Order: sequence, then structure tokens, then C-alpha cells
Amino acid sequence: MNIITKLAIAASLATALTSASFAADKLVVGFSQIGSESGWRAAETSVTKQQAADRGIDLKFADAQQKQENQIKAIRGFIAQGVNAILVAPVVATGWDDVLKEAKEANIPVILLDRGVDAPEDLYLTSVASDQVKEGTVAGNWLVSAVGDAPCKVVEIEGTVGSTPAINRKKGFDEAVLAHANITIIRSQTGEFTRAKGKEVMEGFLKAENGGADICAVYAHNDDMAVGAIQAIKDAGLKPGTDIKVVSIDGVPDIFSAMVAGEANASVELTPNMAGPAFDALAAYLKDGTVPPKFIVTESKLYTPADNPQGEYDARKGLGY
Ligand code: AHR
Repeated sequence: MNIITKLAIAASLATALTSASFAADKLVVGFSQIGSESGWRAAETSVTKQQAADRGIDLKFADAQQKQENQIKAIRGFIAQGVNAILVAPVVATGWDDVLKEAKEANIPVILLDRGVDAPEDLYLTSVASDQVKEGTVAGNWLVSAVGDAPCKVVEIEGTVGSTPAINRKKGFDEAVLAHANITIIRSQTGEFTRAKGKEVMEGFLKAENGGADICAVYAHNDDMAVGAIQAIKDAGLKPGTDIKVVSIDGVPDIFSAMVAGEANASVELTPNMAGPAFDALAAYLKDGTVPPKFIVTESKLYTPADNPQGEYDARKGLGY
């Protein structure tokens, strides 16, 4: 590292530390949240508020109601207030460069939570998220072993168009199943990560596919859409979990209830606690300039009805859900 780079790092660190101490003993952090489209999202919001409270952080919360323009406005507001750091869960991947540059110019570190961005890595401090391609692969591998050599037509309910979990969960699932000629993905459509839309999309799939007789499995990019799909399958007079297999991602309490009822077959857990690792990384950075890894990756564990779903439900209830 040359002397100019060292001086630049020292200067930006000094500014960060000064702005931290400016807030006396309380760190002020802005959090631009996407909205409350799913049970998982609501849990992430409440866990983040709790993690901030536990650490004595003054958290400024802004709900973007699913709109990127609201997130950009909120981030600009945080910059104008001179917060010490910004957390953002980016609703879609593209369109962040300008506002992230503004935060960088103001020496305010930005941490991404649970979703990624298509922007240069030097514009944010770190990203705390799961490996979303792996989540799709874990779900796909589960289906591959569940169906064996039997033919299986899959319908897919995707997440929000343009969001990294929708893009990557599709990619990972495709990679796992497309090598198996007996498994075909016959329909894919967005359910926008909501329960209501998941139900509506599944109703369309059932109608289009002979009332569901031709569908072997539904892969939903989150549990809420899977729960909506389960309702649609029941309304169509079929048994979810038996007539049509259900595999999804998140590990929220409702999917464990569905497993207990025999109506869901597998879910890949996503922790709602992204804020804990984010605040740890931020504290170390502000204390002595420790630069965290660019990606802090959370675990992606598969759960099935063989994994004590009632116990998993009980363990999660009250943890922000
Ligand atoms: O970005 C994480 C995804 O967003 C969760 O899987 C989903 O439930 C949420 O809405």
C-alpha cells in the first residue's frame, strides 16, 4: 500500500471516528427497510430494532413500502442528518451507484442487509446476507433426492423481479435440477414475496395445468408464497405436501406449522438476524478501522418434517416473528 493510499484511509477513518464521537456516546444509524412483504421481513425489522436497542444505538427506521425511490430518499435524508452509518436492505439490485457515492463522499459507511446490489464494492463497507444461489441449490437438491427417477413437473413462484434473492434462488435451483432430465420447470412467475400473490399465482398454475394433476412440486422463493400456494392447492381439492410437494426458503414459524400438518416438505432457513453481524462489523470499523470482509455470509440450513418441526416452530415463536 503506498503512502497516498495510507493517508487517504487515515483521513477517512478520522472523519468516521469524528462523526461517531460527534454523536457523543450514542451511535446513530439509519436503516432503510424494504417494507413488510413477508413474515421473514417483519422478523428482520424487529430483530434489527432489538439488536440496536441492546447496543444502545439510536436507530432511525424508514419503511420504503417496496419502492426503491423511497429507499433512495431515506438514504439521502440519513446523509443530511449526518448519521454515523446506514443499513439498507436493497429492494432491487440495480440503480444504487449515485446514492452510495453520496454516502461515501459524506464518509458514512453503508452496510447492505440480506440483499445485494450491482454496484462497485468500494461503495459499501460490507454485505451481510445468505448465499442465495446456495439456497436455491439446497432446495433443488432436496427435490432431486425426493423424486428420484420419477418424472416431475415443477412450478416456480419467484420473488420480487430484479431482486438478488429472486435472481440467485432461481439460478441455484436451476443448476441443481436441470441436470436431471426427469425434472422440468414448466412455469415460473413472480409472486412478489407475498402470501396473497403466491396464492394467486398458484391458482393460475393449477388452472393452466389440468387442475394441478400435472404438477409434481412447487418451488417458492420464500415461505410466505409457499403458504399462499398451499392454500390454493387445498382450495383446488388437492393435498399439498402429498399430491404436490412444497419446497421454499426462509424457515419462518408458519412453514413449520405447515410441516406439522403434513402440507410442506422442505424449507431452507434464512436467519432474520442480519443486524447483529452488521453492528459488530460496524463497531470494529469505527473503533480502530478494522475492515470487515466484503461479504458476511449467513447459514443456509435445510429443514424437513424429519427435523422436529413443532420444536422448530416453538423455538422461533417470539424471536421477532
Ligand atoms: O431478501 C430476503 C427475502 O426477502 C426473504 O426470503 C423474503 O421472505 C423477503 O421478503
